[in-house]
Amino acid sequence: MTIVPSNPGNPGGFKQAGPKAERARPPAGAARAGRAEILSARESASDRKVEQSLRPLRLVEYIGQTRIKSMLEMSISAASARGEALDHVLFYGPPGLGKTTLAHVIANEMGSRIHMTTGPGLERPRDIIGLVHQLEAGDVLFIDEIHRLSRVAEELLYPAIEDFVIDLTSGKGQATRTMRLPLPRFTLIGATTRAGMISNALRDRFGFVCRLEFYDNQELSCIVRRTASILGVDIDDSGVEIIAARGRGTPRIANRLVRLVRDFAQYKGRARVDAAVASEALDTYQVDASGLDHTDRRLLEILIDSYGGGPVGIDTLAATIGEDSDTVEDVYEPFLIQRGFIQRTPRGRVATPGAYRHLKRQAPSLQLNLDMLQDQAEGGEP
Ligand SMILES: Nc1ncnc2c1ncn2[C@@H]1O[C@H](COP(=O)(O)OP(=O)(O)OP(=O)(O)O)[C@@H](O)[C@H]1O
Ligand SMILES: [Mg+2]
Repeated sequence: MTIVPSNPGNPGGFKQAGPKAERARPPAGAARAGRAEILSARESASDRKVEQSLRPLRLVEYIGQTRIKSMLEMSISAASARGEALDHVLFYGPPGLGKTTLAHVIANEMGSRIHMTTGPGLERPRDIIGLVHQLEAGDVLFIDEIHRLSRVAEELLYPAIEDFVIDLTSGKGQATRTMRLPLPRFTLIGATTRAGMISNALRDRFGFVCRLEFYDNQELSCIVRRTASILGVDIDDSGVEIIAARGRGTPRIANRLVRLVRDFAQYKGRARVDAAVASEALDTYQVDASGLDHTDRRLLEILIDSYGGGPVGIDTLAATIGEDSDTVEDVYEPFLIQRGFIQRTPRGRVATPGAYRHLKRQAPSLQLNLDMLQDQAEGGEP
């Protein structure tokens, strides 16, 4: 795979950096470190430095997402056998689950070049024309944050995606001329955390639309073990389990926790990471046993203590914790919903009985009753 430096919207985002490029940070002041540093699924500067060395390059190395992997395996081998480009693919799902990684994996498996850009980077028609001009047969064009494409860009892309042609216009008013230029057959890979913001017209033009899921503990354990081995961290199975359990089902976060635990162990002069070292390190960073940090707990506390458990509108909730609602929806909420702490209802967000239990709060009686009924249905004690 060759990465073509054609990327106006993503400068320097994919530079090579080995593990040596990252300096071990002493964990002093760890408890004060903000969420952006620890549990945000969004990519931080220190993630970028190591991600290149941690990214799986081939499908066999890519852990989890088995349904997507087997579908890709079949389609890639069929397209390669026919000597054709793979059909266009859209990946969506919360940050840090492996969308960009899969785009690279596809290009590697197809033996193709990859051109990387972002939706906001294709603002003007000439950005798109300049980009598609460089495409060769079989190339992969990766557009990250594809939900942020402008309308003009989107419409210019339609014939390029569907019929592999691009319409160039010149002149103004009555003198306007349109020229249709053929393009080589390429594969568009789009990635987004906000599938709901993509128009149906764009979505329908992808041959595959794949939703990435959170990873289970076993899959995340494999990722933690692999990352520790690449970074040269000596860790036993109990240490792996602690990190995986607190990694919020997200490889990017699990990888970050491995680095934090490594720094902590080094600072404490512990050669091997076991359950005790891993828990002590993550307790220091205020990451609890379910992978929640102080911001998640605050969000649940506000929902329960200030709004009686909800329903509360997302804008109100976001304003109360001092975040914008996009961040709450993209970064905090998906994991809290997946862990069953929050429910989305048409009237707003509601705290579940699980959230009350996690914060050791007394659930309101109706919820308590529902909870008991649910426990009974699942075969628990009445
Ligand atoms: N299946 C996987 N197996 C092993 N490591 C993975 C896997 N998926 C992702 N990773 C690791 O997690 C990191 C984050 O993945 P990636 O950048 O692909 O996420 P993303 O979905 O594109 O996030 P964003 O929405 O923020 O762009 C990668 O650097 C990689 O090291
Ligand atoms: Mg990405």
